[in-house]
Amino acid sequence: MFLNPEELLSQYNPVTGEMPGASMVKRHLSDLRGCFADTAAYDATMITGNPLLYSVGAVEPAGGDGDLHYGVGLLLPGKIGDEYYMTKGHLHAWRPAAEFYFGLTGDGVMLLEDEATGESRIVPLRPNDVVYVPGHTAHRTMNVGNTPLTYIGVYPAKAGHDYTTIAEKNFCCIVVERDGKPAMVERPD
Ligand code: F6R
Ligand code: MN
Repeated sequence: MFLNPEELLSQYNPVTGEMPGASMVKRHLSDLRGCFADTAAYDATMITGNPLLYSVGAVEPAGGDGDLHYGVGLLLPGKIGDEYYMTKGHLHAWRPAAEFYFGLTGDGVMLLEDEATGESRIVPLRPNDVVYVPGHTAHRTMNVGNTPLTYIGVYPAKAGHDYTTIAEKNFCCIVVERDGKPAMVERPD
């Protein structure tokens, strides 16, 4: 079944992130063990519960070489210590695969890290912002505002997702709130 993006987004539920024809993934704090540098803050939050951080509705109409997949992400506002709620982050299994992100609602940033050089940068992801994620680049999204962040990511059908590399060595940098604003700093050991 093929549903066009406009049709899908018109049926998109901005509260739950659900939409018809999409396969939903929901990630809670426990799914991001090891992502947050402040492990004491992580443990303190886990004692009080295991909050939902984000959901992604993925639409995968076809899997041929020239096909595209896309996902609509809904990342809730919140922090663990000084670190904003974030996605797990990944590289594409097929490393040359780039991705196009488009901001829909809220206030976010993306952390991009070149796999070969470790060079890192943050870029804003707000409504109508486009972020081009080149191939060979690890990417993670943070909600730096007070309302849900929603965005769409479009990627080659054959990109695939490599979460293992990030789980093993993590990103070099973290994004923390400093003087009320997001700042990228080196991950403390
Ligand atoms: C797909 C993509 C996004 C993410 C989404 C959730 O390639 O980059 O749709 O899947 O932002 O992040 P992860 O997949 O890192 O949990
Ligand atoms: Mn991706």
